[in-house]
Amino acid sequence: MPEDRLVGDSMKNKNVVVIGTHWGDEGKGKIVDLLTESVAAVVRFQGGHNAGHTLVVEGNKTVLHLIPSGILHPTVQCLIGNGVVLSIPDLFKEIKELEEAGVEVRNRLMLSLDCPLIMPYHIALDVSVEKERGNRKIGTTGRGIGPAYEDKVGRRGLRLRDLLDEQQLLFKLEGILKQHNFMLEQYYGAEPVTLEACLAASLAYLDELKPMMGDVLSQLAMLRRNGQAVLFEGAQGALLDIDHGTYPFVTSSNTTAGAISSGCGVGPLHLDYILGITKAYTTRVGEGPFPTELHDSVGIHLAEKGHEFGATTGRPRRCGWLDVCALQRVVEMNSLTGLCITKLDVLDGLDSVAICVDYQEHSDGQITPVYETLAGWQEASVGVKQYQDLPQNAQVYLDRIEALCGIPVDVISTGPDRAETILKRPIL
Ligand code: GDP
Ligand code: IMO
Ligand code: MG
Repeated sequence: MPEDRLVGDSMKNKNVVVIGTHWGDEGKGKIVDLLTESVAAVVRFQGGHNAGHTLVVEGNKTVLHLIPSGILHPTVQCLIGNGVVLSIPDLFKEIKELEEAGVEVRNRLMLSLDCPLIMPYHIALDVSVEKERGNRKIGTTGRGIGPAYEDKVGRRGLRLRDLLDEQQLLFKLEGILKQHNFMLEQYYGAEPVTLEACLAASLAYLDELKPMMGDVLSQLAMLRRNGQAVLFEGAQGALLDIDHGTYPFVTSSNTTAGAISSGCGVGPLHLDYILGITKAYTTRVGEGPFPTELHDSVGIHLAEKGHEFGATTGRPRRCGWLDVCALQRVVEMNSLTGLCITKLDVLDGLDSVAICVDYQEHSDGQITPVYETLAGWQEASVGVKQYQDLPQNAQVYLDRIEALCGIPVDVISTGPDRAETILKRPIL
């Protein structure tokens, strides 16, 4: 990579974005937590509590679903933008867990008044729709994400600000319940959802919510005017994007960098550095195509050594070789500046490693990956903090990814802990 790329110019990168490049769980949470050290605020702009972002600091593990992964840094603001679908009971479950662990949350958390609410009927619908689809199911997290976004786009959804007018809220809820209960009872043969259950999941929290409600767009504009750095935390991954992903086996939001402007109100020209988080191999939870999936001893090695179980649902993750063919498209659709390769240590001990560089399409519609095979490495990369200390063949592997993607690998993660990271070039 040419050295004249000034990614390390600390005056330049004020607004830094973290995006998952495949089907989620690439290690975004760890990297957001690490980079938070240098920012004033961290923002979520899409998705909901379908996300599971794991942070490990000095051996202590925290899993976040809705609250931005900057929360462990005591002075940092955490913002939830209008693009995030909000389950209020789940938000408070997470706040309370953090408070019990001694982390102050409420004074630093701002929720956009325009966040669409996930209500009990969304969860009931998510479960019913999946059941109805049978073996065509998506394998959702069952958190009501899809139905909540459907209500938003259908212009009938409730937003956080609707809690401020009780009479109007009751009026809107009655109409929505009538429609969704009709579907639940008459079409899916499921139990209807009561008004009481909806109020218990929303209005009951109003007094606690009020101090956290705010104008996220204005807050971000103010930070920008003051020259303060902000981190934008993507959830899921680019291949789960509703438009660019493996439709219909996707989530219901745009998970790519284009979603930042609509999801929290920061204009596209105000983004300075977009970091793609890429696992050194590829995983997927739920159904859908996965060309490089492995069912052999290497697949077992990756699942076991990588502890590949979902941070939200606990489901085993499917594992396979790194799909660079898909990654090349992801670099384009997100205008990625650089890559962070995570879980490199999981490849330690393999005789050889493979990278998918193309797909072969067959007449029956099947797709098989075309691989480039590189020598593996027996030395340990786990916990390595300097690039030159990595096993030689691991460096060759990273160099090959750079060359195939045309962007630099600026960060390498060699273990789950915040400290187990190589910052090849500074980002903030
Ligand atoms: P996210 O959804 O992208 O934030 O990722 P998850 O937290 O769902 O999954 C990543 C998992 O890998 C978590 O259990 C992390 O603690 C772990 N992890 C992150 N980076 C590394 C790494 O470099 N090496 C290893 N061995 N584990 C890592
Ligand atoms: P993080 O942020 C991995 C997957 C589900 C399912 C599909 C649709 O931790 O990377 P949904 O409940 O969103 O309607 O499910 O998307 N999925 C994830 N997979 N990581 C995630 O988040 C995911 N969020 C949703 O497994 O296949
Ligand atoms: Mg996850």
